[in-house]
Amino acid sequence: MDYSYKNVKGIYEHVLKLGMLSPPEDVIAAWMLFKNTDQIGHMLELGSYLGGGLGMFNQLLAATGHANVKFTGVDSLEFIGAQARQSRGAWYTDHFNRCLSESERTSLASLNTPQEATEWIQERTLRLTGTAIDLKCVLDEKDLDDQQYDVIHHDYGDSVEENLTTFRHCVPKLKDTGIYIVDDWCTGAPLRTVAAVLVVQQKLLYPILWGKNKVFYAKNPERAQQVVNAMLRDTENNPRLFKGMPGSDYFGTNYQTVRMHWQAIQWS
Ligand SMILES: C[S@@+](CC[C@H](N)C(=O)[O-])C[C@H]1O[C@@H](n2cnc3c(N)ncnc32)[C@H](O)[C@@H]1O
Repeated sequence: MDYSYKNVKGIYEHVLKLGMLSPPEDVIAAWMLFKNTDQIGHMLELGSYLGGGLGMFNQLLAATGHANVKFTGVDSLEFIGAQARQSRGAWYTDHFNRCLSESERTSLASLNTPQEATEWIQERTLRLTGTAIDLKCVLDEKDLDDQQYDVIHHDYGDSVEENLTTFRHCVPKLKDTGIYIVDDWCTGAPLRTVAAVLVVQQKLLYPILWGKNKVFYAKNPERAQQVVNAMLRDTENNPRLFKGMPGSDYFGTNYQTVRMHWQAIQWS
């Protein structure tokens, strides 16, 4: 599977089939970044849902030089199982109908334990991506052990307070060299976006890369600049589609970030 900017349409169709709730430009952003980081061993997915994001990251990380990543997924399952039983969260119904077969919808509705969710996602990931996933699911971020992660993908939380609680609980679980991704950094989760700005103001996270809806951060400015410089040096990255932003002294003298030129990707 080609995860580069040369395969926007292929990536779009693949993530749609997996049921991942992200545009292809964000997948390409992750490709651009992860081929310029040190070895990734552990990733935490906050909001594992149908496992579409997990399946995509599993393949993408392998494609960018990080084989055998161990994943941890957090999901209360209330939303997924309850929705499959038609009792809550009505706007997801059509998404289930579009992404899941009838037998997948039936088996999803019976998921009650994190072990069952783990097996369900593992089976579906292998079937749809041809790549096995090393995964362990838990119901709540408070059930996580003291594992430190190389990557955290934050994909739940509505209110500012709820998101700040997750940031404060999970940023300390990120290694000093790790990458923290905030998803739906847009009108998809407006109050998570507000919470992310507050966390940056509190100097808990430093921006590296602005995707379309995913923003990638480091825990300290030195690490953020190392990754930015590596991405800008990468000759495989098409400079028309990804560009260095002018320096901002807010984060330190001549601090640079990278922005996806996602409009250009859409039209390329
Ligand atoms: C937007 S979906 C995640 C999509 C997934 N990351 C992907 O890309 O395919 C959010 C999920 O988080 C779960 N969730 C929401 N708040 C939660 C919480 N506080 N603890 C655990 N799970 C939660 C919901 O059940 C839902 O399945």
